[in-house]
Amino acid sequence: MENFPMINLEKLNGEERGATMEIIKDACENWGFFELINHGISHELMDTVERLTKEHYQKCMEQRFKELVATKGLEGVQTEVNDLDWESTFFLRHLPHSNISEIPDLQDEYRKVMKEFALRLEKLAEELLDLLCENLGLEKGYLKKAFHGSKGPFFGTKVSNYPPCPKPDLIKGLRAHTDAGGIILLFQDDKVSGLQLLKDDQWIDVPPMRHSIVINLGDQIEVITNGKYKSVMHRVIAQTDRNRMSIASFYNPGGDAVIYPAPTLVEKEANENNNLYPKFVFEDYMKLYAGLKFQAKEPRFEAMKAIESNVNVGPIATA
Ligand code: OGA
Ligand code: NI
Repeated sequence: MENFPMINLEKLNGEERGATMEIIKDACENWGFFELINHGISHELMDTVERLTKEHYQKCMEQRFKELVATKGLEGVQTEVNDLDWESTFFLRHLPHSNISEIPDLQDEYRKVMKEFALRLEKLAEELLDLLCENLGLEKGYLKKAFHGSKGPFFGTKVSNYPPCPKPDLIKGLRAHTDAGGIILLFQDDKVSGLQLLKDDQWIDVPPMRHSIVINLGDQIEVITNGKYKSVMHRVIAQTDRNRMSIASFYNPGGDAVIYPAPTLVEKEANENNNLYPKFVFEDYMKLYAGLKFQAKEPRFEAMKAIESNVNVGPIATA
């Protein structure tokens, strides 16, 4: 089997630029995932983020999670649980407006460090979007612009811990899904694995690696690239004996951004009726996704297409 795509981002500055762009292209076309090293975010900052995240979990989240497990009687389940995930999470929003100051129980230092980390990740996300543009033959800035809407992109971070789970085969850390948004940057535990992606009908481990950042593509990139790049199903399997930390940052379109396939990536012959992908307002997609996250993406695209054609034929339908 081929190896999980690893990209040394520093090589973009030297004579291996072309080869590195090719690995990125192959990863986008065939994996929907890749792992970055030498991405420019300081290892010291990452170490601090990790330390403070783990401290915060132990101080403020772990006990609450154990109580939840006890209340729901999850320790002794005998059959598969399909309506919840074995995770303890909280969510920080950075763009269009930060909510970090409103999140309870965070130390000042942790707030400050997460703001700094988010700023670095935001820059990295925009750099990556331009690399994708280059590989796709789109003008520089195309994807960033497509995500802009009236208030700029959405950027947020989901901080997760996957505590030791007595029945990892019956309760998933996080059930299989594709991500709804644009590009996702994941700082995952460097020792405890658990993230898997679906490739050719097989679940493949995303290898933990110290100071790396795992990238994956969401449904909006699939729509804008007209399916040249696809969002890929992934899930988290909790471990029985160890806690796994993961910090996933989502660079998404703004709520009112209108998303549709880039015209230069649509085959000339395709007419309006056999477009593979719909055109929609991103927040409408998110409303649909909220209820269908753990299902296949195709029905979501179909539902958005149905809405689109209703809008188009509106006056006829009501005549
Ligand atoms: C997600 C996700 C993976 C992880 O939050 O959408 O896929 O490793 N997270 O936590
Ligand atoms: Ni995900």
